[in-house]
Formats: sequence, C-alpha cells, structure tokens
Amino acid sequence: MLIRSFREEDTEAIVALWQACGLTRPWNDPYRDIARKLTAQPELFLVGEVSGVPMASAMVGFDGHRGWVYYVAIDPAHQGKGCGRMLMAHAEQLLIERGCPKINLLVRAGNDVVIDFYNKLGYAPDAVVSLGKRLIPDLPDQ
Ligand SMILES: CC(C)(COP(=O)(O)OP(=O)(O)OC[C@H]1O[C@@H](n2cnc3c(N)ncnc32)[C@H](O)[C@@H]1OP(=O)(O)O)[C@@H](O)C(=O)NCCC(=O)NCCS
Repeated sequence: MLIRSFREEDTEAIVALWQACGLTRPWNDPYRDIARKLTAQPELFLVGEVSGVPMASAMVGFDGHRGWVYYVAIDPAHQGKGCGRMLMAHAEQLLIERGCPKINLLVRAGNDVVIDFYNKLGYAPDAVVSLGKRLIPDLPDQ
C-alpha cells in the first residue's frame, strides 16, 4: 500500500470506500466533509492506494494540542493484511513530526471490532465523556 495525500480526483472512490465500510451517516454528507477537510491541513487527509487504486483513508488533523483521526477505512477486500496498522503508524508519524503529543479518536460505543483493532495498536479508553455542540446546522432539522 502506498500512502499519500488526498487528491480531488479521489473523491468518488473515497466516498464509495466510506460507504462500503459503513462510515457514512445521514448527518455527515461525505462530499461536504471532504470539502471541509480540504480547507484545513489537506496534506493530512491520507489515502492508501494499491496499484493506483484508492483503498484506504484516514482524515488526520493537529489542533495545536491533540491530534485527531477520523474516517479510518480499509477496503473490505484489503482488511486483515496489516494495512490499517500501517496507515495508523503513518498518521502517528506525521503528527509526531508536527510536535503533537497525543492522538485522540472516537469510536461509536459498541463497535467492539474496531475497539479491538485500536487496542492492538496501543490505544486505550480515556476517562472522558465526549460532548458535542453543533455550530453549523448541516441538515434542516438540526
Ligand atoms: C478497523 C479497520 C481500519 C482495521 O484495518 P485492517 O487493515 O483490517 O487491520 P490490520 O490488518 O492492520 O490489523 C491490525 C491489528 O488489528 C487486529 N484486528 C483487525 N481487525 C480486527 C478485528 N475485527 N477483531 C480483532 N482484531 C482485529 C489485527 O489482528 C491486527 O493485529 P496484529 O497485528 O497483532 O495481528 C478496518 O477493518 C476497517 O476499515 N473497518 C471498517 C471501517 C471502520 O469501522 N473504521 C473505524 C472507524 S472508527
């Protein structure tokens, strides 16, 4: 797997990847999420490709205090071969190079498969409650 930054021509493949991995949600328009990421540290929007075909993604950011990772996805045909581990190691290295001391990520409660994956990579639960407040209502009823 070759890891590089996202390019605009990856858009359809990456949206299809997120759909295949079950990462899309009604309140997160993937096209809007991509457009927003391209306004902030676009070089940290990572794409993995095999034979020139995008098959992995990780949307990484450093906010000056913590690093965050969203949309970690490996195409189901390529899962279980170490690509997820490699992609996360790459993301961690880019954050370390920027002086980021800690990486945070969110996993939906009950998604035990993904929690097992992150446990194997050295991630542990933090004693925090995740709070959120929507600032821009992306959907009419929000
Ligand atoms: C979770 C995901 C990124 C893992 O990627 P992957 O390439 O299959 O994982 P790897 O092959 O690199 O596995 C890394 C380690 O995690 C473990 N692991 C991976 N999937 C696992 C599973 N389903 N259950 C338990 N352990 C698992 C592997 O055994 C491996 O451990 P090892 O190196 O000690 O053998 C991938 O399955 C995926 O894209 N899932 C769908 C999208 C998703 O849910 N993303 C997370 C959003 S929070």
